[in-house]
Amino acid sequence: MTTYTLDWDAYTALARKTVAEGAVLLKNDNQTLPLAAGTTISAFGRNQFNYYKSGTGSGGMVNVSHVVSPLEALQHHSDLTLNQSLLDVYEAWLEDHPFDKGEGWAAEPWSQEEMPVTDEIVAGAASQSDVAIVMIGRTAGEDRDNTADPGSYLLTDVELTLIEKVSGAFPKTVVLLNVGNVIDMQWALDFNPSAILYGWQGGMEGGNALVDLLTGEVTPSGKLPDTIVRSLEAYPSTPYFGHEDRAIYKEDIYVGYRYFETFAKDDVLYPFGFGLSYTTFDVATETVDMTEQQVTLTVTVTNTGTHSGKEVVQVYLEKPQGKLGNPSRGLVAFAKTQLLETGQSETLTLTVPLTEYTSYDDAGVTGHKSSYVIEAGDYHLYVGTDVRTAAHVATQTIGQLQVIETLSENMAPVTAFDRLKPQQTETGYDVSYEATPLRTIDPEARRLAERPAERTYSDDQGLTLKDVSEGKTSLDVFLDQLTDEDLAAIVRGEGMNSPRVTPGTAAAFGGVTDRLTAFGIPAACCADGPSGIRMDIGTKAFSLPNGTLVASTFNVDLVADLFEMTGLELRKNGIDTLLGPGMNIHRHPLNGRNFEYFSEDPHLTGMMAVAQLDGMHRVGVTGTLKHLSANNQEFHRHDLDSIVSERALREIYLKGFEHAVKRGQAYAIMTTYGAVNGLWTAGLYDQNTRILRDEWGFDGVVMTDWWAKINAEGTDANRQQTATMVRSQNDLYMVVGEPGANPFEDDTLSSLADGTLTRAELLRSAANICQFILRSPVMERTLGQEATVDVTGLPEETDDLHEQAVTHQQLQSGVPIVFDELDTSTGSSHVFAVTAEETGMYHVTFEARSYAGELAQMPVTLFANNMPVATFTFNGTDGEWVTQTKDVFVFNPHNYFKLYFALGGLELKNITFTLTESFHMKNG
Ligand code: BGC
Repeated sequence: MTTYTLDWDAYTALARKTVAEGAVLLKNDNQTLPLAAGTTISAFGRNQFNYYKSGTGSGGMVNVSHVVSPLEALQHHSDLTLNQSLLDVYEAWLEDHPFDKGEGWAAEPWSQEEMPVTDEIVAGAASQSDVAIVMIGRTAGEDRDNTADPGSYLLTDVELTLIEKVSGAFPKTVVLLNVGNVIDMQWALDFNPSAILYGWQGGMEGGNALVDLLTGEVTPSGKLPDTIVRSLEAYPSTPYFGHEDRAIYKEDIYVGYRYFETFAKDDVLYPFGFGLSYTTFDVATETVDMTEQQVTLTVTVTNTGTHSGKEVVQVYLEKPQGKLGNPSRGLVAFAKTQLLETGQSETLTLTVPLTEYTSYDDAGVTGHKSSYVIEAGDYHLYVGTDVRTAAHVATQTIGQLQVIETLSENMAPVTAFDRLKPQQTETGYDVSYEATPLRTIDPEARRLAERPAERTYSDDQGLTLKDVSEGKTSLDVFLDQLTDEDLAAIVRGEGMNSPRVTPGTAAAFGGVTDRLTAFGIPAACCADGPSGIRMDIGTKAFSLPNGTLVASTFNVDLVADLFEMTGLELRKNGIDTLLGPGMNIHRHPLNGRNFEYFSEDPHLTGMMAVAQLDGMHRVGVTGTLKHLSANNQEFHRHDLDSIVSERALREIYLKGFEHAVKRGQAYAIMTTYGAVNGLWTAGLYDQNTRILRDEWGFDGVVMTDWWAKINAEGTDANRQQTATMVRSQNDLYMVVGEPGANPFEDDTLSSLADGTLTRAELLRSAANICQFILRSPVMERTLGQEATVDVTGLPEETDDLHEQAVTHQQLQSGVPIVFDELDTSTGSSHVFAVTAEETGMYHVTFEARSYAGELAQMPVTLFANNMPVATFTFNGTDGEWVTQTKDVFVFNPHNYFKLYFALGGLELKNITFTLTESFHMKNG
């Protein structure tokens, strides 16, 4: 049996290194940074007291014992001095302006009120210190986008004045941005601070790493994964973002730098791939070797400056316009050097496979509809350290059109719209439009023709999943023993907080009924993700840097090493798959979940996902790629229809997933809440079967997003159409409270009965689920072969049970315990003691309400004597009082109960314990 060691100190060191390699230095005039030993710093901005470790929502709910803020790291640094009198001013002001947590799910403020500074304060600070650091913070997250307002995408007037005054008074001002996604940067031009560091959201080690950069302990090497432009209006997607019903992707494949470098170079403030260093590098392309299959480049990077450092070499391709039209640049390869000392060189080898030269013809204009083709013409390669300055190194002329891969039409739009296409001019390209090709096939007729051959129930042959694992029988023979009811249950995930798996996690799947368990199918466990493990009962976990920061490292080896640690942490917690990486494309800077996702570029997105999977796969666990596909807006996310050309889907929005499946061997994927071209992705056969499995060879499990809607063409989406889901090979409906009882009244069994769903289709999904289980730690456990994970270096956690004032009361069956003005804010807990006259099984009913949205997740965990016994996850209730009941066995006459609120926004009215089965042990 394998024994792994999770070295918490090594984990911490890797996370710190990742943050230090992911923060992007945008500006560093007059060698403002690094700070010399002995520097005195005036730290401005209230964000120094409330560093955001991540964004909000499911991806931000990692319970962490401690987050190191930049302020704390500065205070602990022995060679730096902080201007204490300025800190005192802030601390006094904060007493009357405490941190506003907001109401919880999707209701947190995206920024905090900033302290106005007077000229006197700034001048006083400038006279006492060498350097100013201004910290600006933003968060955003699931279920609520950023807005184009001050306090979100824009800075507030108070923040602008702060930067203006400080930059005016100090010769050296560093603006440190603690943000989830790119924000407006006009102020950088207006006030010209001498240095700007995009620190993103760095998780629990964020502060330490940022101070490593400020002091020069580490030389910055992060690169922008997104273009930063002058204004929101410059984005071609802006007019089509934020609508309730439809998002029309008129910009087509011209997303991010693909648009700006082709059509609007002048709008760019900081180009994609850009990031400064404390040292300088010479980047020389040595050889470009072109074969029919690939181009191989060798590039020598030499550190010509005075600090050690790392550099990222990026290779861009300019395809000819041909008939299809193409952006003037596309990232096709990148590599990062090792740490190079002054004068040291490294030669990197970068490979560009032929597939990167292709464009997808969704119209048939090249004569090869639904094919990846290489059109005739000149293909120019550029090498450099950002998209704008990358220099031309070679041109390959393709004499005639080559068809590289012929596929078939899938996911094409049905709504007519025009899409962007470059129009060549003498000096460059103008924006023009062409009609987007629309769907020409009948997907339902095609699906029916592709149905698997029907299979019959074999009766119970006494076979278990162990027999499959040991090669004694085939998976098909094993599954034929399951009744229709068993199969209808296996495609339902149980959650949230299923008692079958690790407490506080998002779902159990597989063995979710007693019958399925009796067949030896264990319950696999998944947990959010992506930036650390979310366990809603309050279990502490490692909080990782956010996705955007991870992408900014451009360092796949480092990211793989970091996620190997996360893999061990998953194993330690009995979790088979993380609900991440988040892989949606940064189509628009206002998307609330951009912090979870990597980049505007599909190649970088794909490589980062591959790196994370590689790391987790090294230790036998995996990640669930999400959200397939086009989850690019939070507003109305469960009803939004994204109207996108097939080409843009394939070249931009699906491409990262394709890399993660083909190169990263992904075996778990989550679909989205919304629709693509009229069909909700949770039931989208062309995506979940034809592209994902038939074209890419995916052989794992596909799950819905939590409580997603599904539709068959021409029907309204709802949560009942699981037959459509199964037919598409979205294998799991996430989530229901009791899979055996069909609480959502889904239509799986009724569709089997009327023949619109076949048993073979259900068996196919059951097989996908079991295949996942067979390769996961949960199966090792079933076979008695589970690896152990020894954890070293983990700090002791404190137990808060005894830190609170406790009220005592008698537990009377059926009589509500009423709570007045209970603090239910995020992370709060309430302890009460009860004496139960009778021990035994109780129905425990929580009555609560919330004004949050219907997909809000507000978990409350009930602990009995410090053991979690039940978690009640409420969704928004529109202000109506609702109840949830769970069975809890009360063992002891005397009990300490604790309520733990993982996320605020809930009002808890009362809890009623109703005895259902007495243990017949009278108290006393
Ligand atoms: C999110 C998913 C997440 C799931 C489980 C949903 O609200 O969209 O990304 O994994 O909840 O928490």
